[in-house]
Amino acid sequence: MILGSTNRNMNYIDCFAGPGCYEFGGLAVDGSPVIAVKAAKSFLDTHPNHSLNILLTENNEHQAQQLEHQLEPLKPHPTNLTVNLLTEDSKTFIPDLLSKIPLIAPSFFMIDPYGHPLSLPVINSILSRQRTEALITLMWYRINMDLSNPAVQANVDRLFGDQEWRKQPFMGQRSTARENGFLDYFVSKLKAKYVLPFRIGYDPEDKVKGERTKYYLLHASNHPSAVLLMKEVMWPLGDEDGTFDFSGESQGVLISRTPQADELQQILLREFAGKDLAFDETRKQTWKLPFVEKHYREVIQKLRAEGTVTVTPVSSKKTGLKGRDLVRFPRSLGSGGSASGERQL
Ligand SMILES: C[S@@+](CC[C@H](N)C(=O)[O-])C[C@H]1O[C@@H](n2cnc3c(N)ncnc32)[C@H](O)[C@@H]1O
Repeated sequence: MILGSTNRNMNYIDCFAGPGCYEFGGLAVDGSPVIAVKAAKSFLDTHPNHSLNILLTENNEHQAQQLEHQLEPLKPHPTNLTVNLLTEDSKTFIPDLLSKIPLIAPSFFMIDPYGHPLSLPVINSILSRQRTEALITLMWYRINMDLSNPAVQANVDRLFGDQEWRKQPFMGQRSTARENGFLDYFVSKLKAKYVLPFRIGYDPEDKVKGERTKYYLLHASNHPSAVLLMKEVMWPLGDEDGTFDFSGESQGVLISRTPQADELQQILLREFAGKDLAFDETRKQTWKLPFVEKHYREVIQKLRAEGTVTVTPVSSKKTGLKGRDLVRFPRSLGSGGSASGERQL
């Protein structure tokens, strides 16, 4: 809806589309292409002057047939929705598509393989396009197996587009240090202003001991609204034991499923001491923090009630807090306590 406010035409491209239906906990659940088509139809119901193109690529013929079958009940599509399912290898098809078609309309790329994603040069060519973002599954457990295995290291060369990764410190490290080093290196190679990693642990069904990471979902974009919205979308999907969380240590803030309001308060008072800025701007400038809008609102409203910050309503009426409401932070730390010993953003 954000992109649609200034663009009539939009694209959704699922590069590893899958069969369109899964079994999860004994129930049949929709796969990403089916979710996308349903979402597109409901968006177009309320936005009839827009148009959406959905492109799905799946290289396995059997999976593609199953997907076609799953998409059938969603027909007929409205005339402003195009759904194309192609039995293609996205590793050759997507670069080819990018070289032929100037994707002018805003585009969302879903890159969700079981193993290696599209190569970084291809992902970066996607991200270099305006108003284009990607959700990338980075199968850490699979890639980690390949890093030190000479028989398959060429796959990792292809992933990065060069061999520089072989010389990185994480190659000599183990466990969490290796995982964080690899993740930071991969993220540093993505040509996107905002990359938000979500760590996904193993399912109980995987029968893997401990809290080990199975994979990461990386949301890569070039606009603060995109990253802030993705945080809002992902946050409620976290589970009780924190196996589905923001990636902690490499982001500089300890993550837990129960965010520590004190920590956010101290960071805001320290980062914005003596500044006047819009409520939304406080969220944009600290986008990496594992807090969503309601946490910012709670903290700032509390500081407002105790007189530590003042708020000049711009977007809200009187006592609310949103959008362009102007927040004035005190010059020195108020009752938020000392910032000494705090980790830096
Ligand atoms: C993890 S599944 C996709 C799941 C899907 N995103 C969902 O949520 O329903 C990955 C799919 O990618 C397909 N695939 C693997 N390599 C591919 C390639 N090079 N090009 C296109 N599809 C590929 C596999 O056959 C598999 O169906």
